[in-house]
Amino acid sequence: MAEHAPLGHAERPMGAWRKLVGVALALALLAGGCAADAPQDTLDPAGPYAEQIDSLFMPVVWVAVAVFVLVEGVIVFAVIRWRRRPDDDDELPVQLHGSTKLEIGWTVLPALVLGLIAVFTIPVIFDLNEKPAGALEVDVTGQKYWWGFDYPEGQTDFGISEGIVTANELHIPAGEPVYLTMTATDVIHSFWAPRLNGKRDVVPGREHTWSLEADEPGAYSGQCAEFCGTSHANMRLKVVAHDPASWEDWVSEMQTPPLTPLAGAAAEGFELFQQRGCAACHRIEGAYETVAPDSPSAPDLTHLFTRDCFAGCIYDLNDRAELEAWLRNPQRKAGSLMVIGELTEDDIDSLYAYLETLE
Ligand code: CUA
Repeated sequence: MAEHAPLGHAERPMGAWRKLVGVALALALLAGGCAADAPQDTLDPAGPYAEQIDSLFMPVVWVAVAVFVLVEGVIVFAVIRWRRRPDDDDELPVQLHGSTKLEIGWTVLPALVLGLIAVFTIPVIFDLNEKPAGALEVDVTGQKYWWGFDYPEGQTDFGISEGIVTANELHIPAGEPVYLTMTATDVIHSFWAPRLNGKRDVVPGREHTWSLEADEPGAYSGQCAEFCGTSHANMRLKVVAHDPASWEDWVSEMQTPPLTPLAGAAAEGFELFQQRGCAACHRIEGAYETVAPDSPSAPDLTHLFTRDCFAGCIYDLNDRAELEAWLRNPQRKAGSLMVIGELTEDDIDSLYAYLETLE
């Protein structure tokens, strides 16, 4: 009989390492599931649409848990009960094939379970796709790597007489349904604000609609949920839900274009803004005539400083250093289409002085 070679010393720690890494990964997964501050927790719905999804999700999870326990229980029982014992002979036990009753059983039972889940799920799918009555309408554009939001004019029920255009932050009135009509300019993106509703693909050449509603005022974060390029992970968004008074304030602020500065550092910044071609892609209402038709569209900056975040909502606009770093190097967000060339620190100061007037 050939003797087994003893395990080499080098191999043992390797095996131990693997086990350790396995356990660490499992623990990390487990710990990730119970984050205390999870702003995109789909299990913590904050509006009626997300609640509808959640109320389906939990029963389905319990059905899945029951199936898991049953199936794994039978497997574990069989493995222990009929395991090979030291005094067993080498003969194979009697081999069994086919049992019509069992096969019918494990075909029909899962079909019934899935059928039951479908009975509850299908109406919700149709429900979520209905256009809610009296909704605020917003046109959404997904592009590399930011979100454009366009509120059509004439929505007087919401105080919107003239159209409003903004980016990355979708402002809505709390407790009111919002109906989004979405398209993309380049590749497929996906709009997802997990606490307010599920995902919906945003596709070039098509218009997909989706609804949102937040019960309470607050900020709800979201992100692009379809891989769209190098900065897919940097294509975030924020939904800001207002109480009636602050909604009114926001709308009136957005309908009042800022004044173009005529003197000082801000005026120099405005000069520079146009010289460097920023005005070819970024729209600023009331500041200059048109945006060049061949340029890629960039976020509307008319009321930039009413927002908290910029560049796909990955940087904090309240932190001056972040905006300056962005002007120095827009490629800090990989794949950004912004080209501004080299700027001196004085240029950056005057550009900042101008941008700050955009409230
Ligand atoms: Cu846009 Cu991912």
